Amino acid sequence: MGKIWAGRTDGTVNKIADDFNSSIKFDSRMFKEDIKGSMAHAAMLGAKGIISKSEADDIIDGLSGILSDLESGKLQIDCLAEDIHTFVEQTLTKRIGDTGKKLHTARSRNDQVALDLRLYLNSQTEQIQDKLKKLIAVICDKACEYKSAVMPGYTHLQRAQPVTFGHHLMAYAMMLLRDIDRITDARKRLLVSPIGCCALAGTTYDTDRIFEAEKLGLSKVSLNSIDGVSDRDFCIELCSALSLVMAHLSRFSEEIVLWSSWEFKFIELSDDFTTGSSIMPQKKNPDMAELVRGKTGRVYGDLVALLTMLKGLPLAYNKDMQEDKESVFDAFDTVNMCLDVFTGMVGGITANTENMLSAAKGGFINATDLADYLTKKGMPFRTAYKLSGEIVSHCIKSGKTLDELTLKEYKNFSEIFEDDLYKAIDLNTCVNLRNSLGGTCVNSVEKQIEYARNEIK
Ligand code: ARG
Repeated sequence: MGKIWAGRTDGTVNKIADDFNSSIKFDSRMFKEDIKGSMAHAAMLGAKGIISKSEADDIIDGLSGILSDLESGKLQIDCLAEDIHTFVEQTLTKRIGDTGKKLHTARSRNDQVALDLRLYLNSQTEQIQDKLKKLIAVICDKACEYKSAVMPGYTHLQRAQPVTFGHHLMAYAMMLLRDIDRITDARKRLLVSPIGCCALAGTTYDTDRIFEAEKLGLSKVSLNSIDGVSDRDFCIELCSALSLVMAHLSRFSEEIVLWSSWEFKFIELSDDFTTGSSIMPQKKNPDMAELVRGKTGRVYGDLVALLTMLKGLPLAYNKDMQEDKESVFDAFDTVNMCLDVFTGMVGGITANTENMLSAAKGGFINATDLADYLTKKGMPFRTAYKLSGEIVSHCIKSGKTLDELTLKEYKNFSEIFEDDLYKAIDLNTCVNLRNSLGGTCVNSVEKQIEYARNEIK
């Protein structure tokens, strides 16, 4: 097929330049949105009398035939076409004749591509949110299973205070809930119709942009035609939200890698989400977690590519903007895949609760509770803190843990100590007394799970 824009030139383009310019390889995935957008446009042209009613019907029938033929595979997308928009328009004209040439009245590829991309990304955001919900559900189930499994909580990757594995897992559920929320928020600005902005300045035809937007399920239209065709904020916002999804998955991945090491041995991944080594027979590698962590950089790269592409562009449309699609599509494809694999991997985690508990028993993670014990008996916290530190130091020198010191030894530090101190520094007590809102006690974890399950309903 020749160029739809042949006229001023005869439309012959150098082969290398033509391949370079073409976007069909990556924009053909928007064929449905392109056709639906064109159907709404034809309907509007017909309703406003810009073309006749029967011409509009012929165009809509023709488009609907193209859509079903593409879906059934009867029609193949021509990889030599310039882009999906020209492919659809030229196919239409080939099928229904000259009426097809009327479709592009009061429209430009500039508003058309912006519309297609918004519609396409909308369906992608729904898919990502569904997958985030599935992952959150699996995390909630795991958190429920391990709501009372004590493990060391860390700061600076140093054992800090005891927490439950359930509580730790629910931290990730909270991050992912925010991710869903961020996408919902970005969608407010995504679902705005640019169609009718035309090339950049609007049109002299008596169009009805609101009619057309509503036909496509969009309740808002862009209010400045120059902005309408040159806005790619929605790509950047979505890519930024996806970058945060990846940041969260990547932090989780890092912990999965650590926890499944021989050094930690906190968890075991199911065999079907691990790989082996070609040389070391003992290996069971957490490749899925590592790949998710690795692919995070790729999504950040997509975000930076988009920001950089946009920053120097004069208004309105510039061909640089064709580069938006590969970046934003890659970000969505990557997150889609990562969420699928992550959900399967998390579902297959078995916690080694004994190892978690024995790690929690080392490292004096109940030292804060020892200080709190003294404070609750009247000693100022800062004094209690110092004294507890001295007791820890004594323990380290004598190779003992806090619960192994005798009451007599404790009394050498302070007369305040009584037999009830052992209960106070018992790890289960440490966990269960942390019943402040959002704390690590079992009851609080149960509330978090209930909250998250409710949010994803
Ligand atoms: N393939 C183009 C893109 O993705 C479509 C818009 C072309 N507009 C133009 N004025 N050449 O941006």
